[in-house]
Amino acid sequence: MSHPASPMPDPAADVPGGQGITGPVAGSATDNVFEVRHVSKRFGAVVALSDVNLRLARGEVLGLLGDNGAGKTTLVKALCGFHRPDSGQILLDGQPVTLRSVDHARSLGIDIVYQDLALVNQLSVYHNMFLNREPVRLRLLRNRTMRRLADEHLKSLGISNIGDVGVEVAKLSGGQRQAIAVARAVFSDSKVLLLDEPLAAMGAKEGALILDLIQDLRAAGRISIIIIAHNYAQILEVCDRVNVLQHGRITFDKPASSTSLAELTNLMVTEYRKARNQQKLEA
Ligand SMILES: Nc1ncnc2c1ncn2[C@@H]1O[C@H](COP(=O)(O)OP(=O)(O)OP(=O)(O)O)[C@@H](O)[C@H]1O
Ligand SMILES: [Mg+2]
Repeated sequence: MSHPASPMPDPAADVPGGQGITGPVAGSATDNVFEVRHVSKRFGAVVALSDVNLRLARGEVLGLLGDNGAGKTTLVKALCGFHRPDSGQILLDGQPVTLRSVDHARSLGIDIVYQDLALVNQLSVYHNMFLNREPVRLRLLRNRTMRRLADEHLKSLGISNIGDVGVEVAKLSGGQRQAIAVARAVFSDSKVLLLDEPLAAMGAKEGALILDLIQDLRAAGRISIIIIAHNYAQILEVCDRVNVLQHGRITFDKPASSTSLAELTNLMVTEYRKARNQQKLEA
């Protein structure tokens, strides 16, 4: 993916201690579907995000890595209207935007699959697929059509082990629920898809299915994706670019083709060793 030079500042250049960041320069406003500028977010005394700069190019798949508690979920929840940043700016298609709620973000084409899932357990698979976005016409056509469309759509994505789409979501496995949530987001024709650990509850087969799905979406080029995962090999397989969050700051930004499993692993191990030595000093 090319990122032509532009008069805009490279967000990576603003990252304190960000020497070594060698990602491509930011594209023009129209190249980036999302831009995050100097976003900070605290929860009481906890600084979850500190002066975060990030961009997501049109059609790009961006992998977001980082240790537990680094701020990954907080960041994508700020991008889907769930959290309001304390400071900083979010631009959508080059225009500053205030995302007032998840529904507001969704109406702008931003969809999220949460780490802590947002399916309604008491409803059927197909009701969940259409949750909050039943077109009036579909509502009139009611259940039979929703049921058929949900079934067709899941099958078209290769999600075949759900069985009856009339079954309550409460009766599905964690991995099956994740698959439904991803399918729902894809089905909604969003322009930005935020996936917070979509593979965490999945077996190898289901995980491979979702990775294939992401590859297909990437090849089609219509959607931009941020995916959070702890498995670096999977990230390198499906992503165009990788960012690492450490203690609320983006510290690494490289094309996936310019980094490696060894480099990413080393980055994390170094962080762990630093924290351990600090603990020893304080003890
Ligand atoms: N609603 C909240 N209230 C208070 N603190 C929070 C809240 N949400 C997150 N935090 C804190 O903010 C920091 C960042 O959390 P976040 O969930 O964004 O991390 P993460 O990178 O997604 O971690 P993980 O890999 O474990 O999912 C953590 O210290 C966490 O305890
Ligand atoms: Mg998280």
